[in-house]
Amino acid sequence: MKTQIIAANWKMNKTRKECKEFADEFKVKSLKLKDKDLKVIILSAFPYIHLLKRLFKDFPVSIGAQDCSFEEKGAFTGEVSASMLKDVGARYVLVGHSERREFHQETDEICAKKVKKVLEHGLIPIYCFGETLIQRGKGKSEEVVKRQLETGIFRLEAEDFQKVILAYEPVWAISKGDPKHKSASPEDAQNMHKYIRNLVKDKYGEDVAGGIPIIYGGSMKPENAKDLLGQKDIDGGLVGGASLEAESFYKILTA
Ligand code: PGA
Repeated sequence: MKTQIIAANWKMNKTRKECKEFADEFKVKSLKLKDKDLKVIILSAFPYIHLLKRLFKDFPVSIGAQDCSFEEKGAFTGEVSASMLKDVGARYVLVGHSERREFHQETDEICAKKVKKVLEHGLIPIYCFGETLIQRGKGKSEEVVKRQLETGIFRLEAEDFQKVILAYEPVWAISKGDPKHKSASPEDAQNMHKYIRNLVKDKYGEDVAGGIPIIYGGSMKPENAKDLLGQKDIDGGLVGGASLEAESFYKILTA
């Protein structure tokens, strides 16, 4: 079995104090996880990356960012570069989250440039993609996902592509903070993950397709994590709302 990857997407949440409280509680709990084949990542807002890196210094928890610029450096007010993220201890960078696509007009082309820049600095991109409710209603889910992959990430050479984590996040399943929001069913998620893996196979071949991690995001929580993570083609989770409390995030890790 592949190593499961569970990434917490904290979005625009948590203060310095709350980061510390989370780390204190989570570290006590996660001692019990030591023998599990798990990769745990926390994707934080920029100002706390350095702090979290320090808080988790001796723990198997990696820290990442939720976005970065596709430019190298210079006159880009408000932007944060991949090299800066690396400098403060980030190892992963989320690219193309649907909230970036929606509120900041990030296109597949922009995402492709960001992925490239992240890789250039030796960081690992977690490339997010997925269809909206309207697209799903029109029966276009597969078409949309295919386009997002082809434009956003399939232009990479195989060597680079293999470093990436794919995160399928159907936009309609993202909780936006509502703990009662429904995730995709395990069957629907598995079908899409299988479709994605087949697209990777057509493009990069069987070995790459078998090795590439494809994680699921959208209302994953302690109650549904086991069923979702138990699917053959689901290699982990990208968890928003349910990752904010150490207790519920820990429960997902034990699922
Ligand atoms: P959610 O968010 O788990 O709260 O649905 C997931 C995400 O947006 O990455």
